[in-house]
Amino acid sequence: MEDFDNPDNDFNSSDQQKGISPPPLQKENMRSDALIIPLPEFSETILSESNIMHVIKRRRSRRRYKETPLSMQEISYLLWATQGVEGADQNREWMIRTVPSAGARHPYETYLIVNWVDDLEKSVYRYLPLTHELLFMSKKSDTREKVYFASYKEDFVADAPVCFVWSCIPYRGEWRYNSKAHKSMLLDAGHICQSLYLSAESINCGTCAIGGYHQQGFDNLLDLDGVDEFTVYLAAVGKVK
Ligand SMILES: Cc1cc2nc3c(=O)[nH]c(=O)nc-3n(C[C@H](O)[C@H](O)[C@H](O)COP(=O)(O)O)c2cc1C
Repeated sequence: MEDFDNPDNDFNSSDQQKGISPPPLQKENMRSDALIIPLPEFSETILSESNIMHVIKRRRSRRRYKETPLSMQEISYLLWATQGVEGADQNREWMIRTVPSAGARHPYETYLIVNWVDDLEKSVYRYLPLTHELLFMSKKSDTREKVYFASYKEDFVADAPVCFVWSCIPYRGEWRYNSKAHKSMLLDAGHICQSLYLSAESINCGTCAIGGYHQQGFDNLLDLDGVDEFTVYLAAVGKVK
């Protein structure tokens, strides 16, 4: 017989059960002089295809992009579709986003490596979902080279107008589920990327999920320690013909 009362088998020994406060819903450690860029509102007028059946049917991994920038509205829409916040509880313990997450833990942060977006400097940014803004992270001349090598020399990733990078903060899930969070946190990543596939397709953009990348390469690029936060998944995005 399974011992269902064994703490290893359930969540009785999690930090949440011990009464420890939850981790922040969104990564903090922002400098007081940080450059924050508000994301514009968008409406259905940006959609090139609003029929959900057509969008699902058309979805493909797309690795060739037009030499056209994305607009800020399109970026705003894609970020909302993948990690946008639709509500949070008063105690800031959980929130509801446009994608599901086991236990509403939402353990991912989104980074954008921007090559070509109208009105947005070529650089690396972090999405701030609670306020729907971008945080300017860094502008380094060798970013393209680093992305190229960390994606195992995939030009379409290094040169994509935008590359989404999702990092996991495992304690957000572990706080509630201990080590059992690990499986569900990986499942969460799939939902996020599928939302990107569908939302991109609906605005004449294409994306390609990338699971094959150099771990330290992307962690270093984003200043992640690889333990408390690490890259899990990427996706290149651009306009398609
Ligand atoms: C978890 C995951 C990892 C992937 N990693 C890569 C990758 O590293 N490089 C790549 O070119 N495509 C990658 N893909 C895209 C797949 O190759 C693609 O989904 C598959 O060939 C089916 O094609 P479709 O998406 O057009 O249906 C990945 C897809 C998934 C779901």
